[in-house]
Amino acid sequence: MTSTVKQATEPTSAHTQGLGEESSIWFQLTPLLKEGINNPMQILMQMAERYGPVIPVNMANQRVVILTQPEHFKYVLVTKADTYTKYFDGLKPIFGKSMITNDGALWQKIRMPQQPAFHPDMFAEYIPYFLAAIRTKMDIWSQLAKSGDAVEMVEQTWTLAADMICKALFDRDMPFNPHFVFKCVKTYTDVMNHKEIRLKKQSGEVFEMTEQDAAKAMQVWASVPPEVMAADPREARERTLLKMIEAAVADPEIPEFDQQQAIDELKQYLWAGTETTALTLAWALYEASRYPEAAERIRKEGEQVYGDRDPTASDYSALAYTRAVVQETMRLYPPIWGLIRVAAEDDEIGGTKIQRGDRIMLFAYGAHHNPRFWDEPEEFRPERWVAGAAKKQVKYSYLPFGGGKRSCIGGAMSQVENTLALSLLLRRFRPEYVGKDPAGLNATVTLTPKGGLKFKIHELS
Ligand code: HEM
Repeated sequence: MTSTVKQATEPTSAHTQGLGEESSIWFQLTPLLKEGINNPMQILMQMAERYGPVIPVNMANQRVVILTQPEHFKYVLVTKADTYTKYFDGLKPIFGKSMITNDGALWQKIRMPQQPAFHPDMFAEYIPYFLAAIRTKMDIWSQLAKSGDAVEMVEQTWTLAADMICKALFDRDMPFNPHFVFKCVKTYTDVMNHKEIRLKKQSGEVFEMTEQDAAKAMQVWASVPPEVMAADPREARERTLLKMIEAAVADPEIPEFDQQQAIDELKQYLWAGTETTALTLAWALYEASRYPEAAERIRKEGEQVYGDRDPTASDYSALAYTRAVVQETMRLYPPIWGLIRVAAEDDEIGGTKIQRGDRIMLFAYGAHHNPRFWDEPEEFRPERWVAGAAKKQVKYSYLPFGGGKRSCIGGAMSQVENTLALSLLLRRFRPEYVGKDPAGLNATVTLTPKGGLKFKIHELS
């Protein structure tokens, strides 16, 4: 059985539009990535300390207002959610016109038919497919352990996350080479690459090479969803996200949900659902390597909870410490370190005038690292999540998945994926971080490790 949804083509010129342009906020962020800065987040944290909770900054021709306080996060995400709309300049080639980029009634129409795929009741159905993907990764790691080769962990976890999404949500084995696709998307989302394109444009240097590379990368990216749709189903399951998307295309009540929409929804899941999940797991493995006692506790917990059989949905609930490691990792390294909105009208936040068109940045990383909300915020302490400390949490001081009606559709599912992956991988392997310690950070669209996270894999006897 193959998908009824057919490929729609996009003009090549659309592939490189946006990200390198001066007006894109991602380009404007590049000064934060200057050589020699190990953690660009600290610059924003110092600004917050010095200039207070609402910081208007003029970046090129654009006013950006940085918010650092939970009550202002709530104001923008919940109280005035319709005034502060989504911002996606420069990311269209990645996301197309998928739901994540839309607002208002259209967003609701697109999200509604897909929402049931993310209900917690579905997780038990997905777990066997997550486990199948994790087992494939274990076979690869077993080979890597034998060869002794160093690996880039984010690439390892990205390929795992993509496999989990394809198997569980689309009923497909990955019909593409995930390492190749990973590199293509990285070419595009790495803000520095785009700065290069623009700087070369300005100085009249040969920029064509880099721009062509970006265009080629985006062409590869555009070809992935149609490949997924056309691939044979693994098991012809009836209740999958892909089936829900196909049903929405066939539904005359939602004419907006056309074939291109379906393709773009897949693009969205293959990036929003993989990059973030992969970064979290890679950072969790980094912390587990630095704190062997945490890794040992994860192993013991797995042994006690599910022993030698396959973990189930109720086992996931019982893996409290492993889940806490995932939560603490997202506190320290929130993949989406800043949420961005556009002010649709004039307003005022904390006594500062907001002008229509201002870009508003909710500095999530800053709240996650603020000593007012967290004891010893720079410490990796998973225990803070298990000892009931979560009860004392200030609302909106922790938002790895955003907040309000636009919060992440797959957040709860990603915690299941990462908790099971962390537990199973650490029970069989000891991934050893062999890069610079501490690892540096890059503030690209997501919070990425500067220069990657190099690991050696050891198989436990
Ligand atoms: C650790 C893993 C993840 C993190 C940290 C994360 C983070 C986020 C954040 C912060 C947002 C809101 C962005 C904003 O308000 O501007 C978001 C939205 C979204 N995420 Fe995730 N995400 C994760 C996993 C996933 C997964 C597994 C999926 C699906 C398979 C997914 C799909 C989406 C979608 C579709 C949206 C847009 C929702 C909407 O606009 O209605 N994410 N995510």
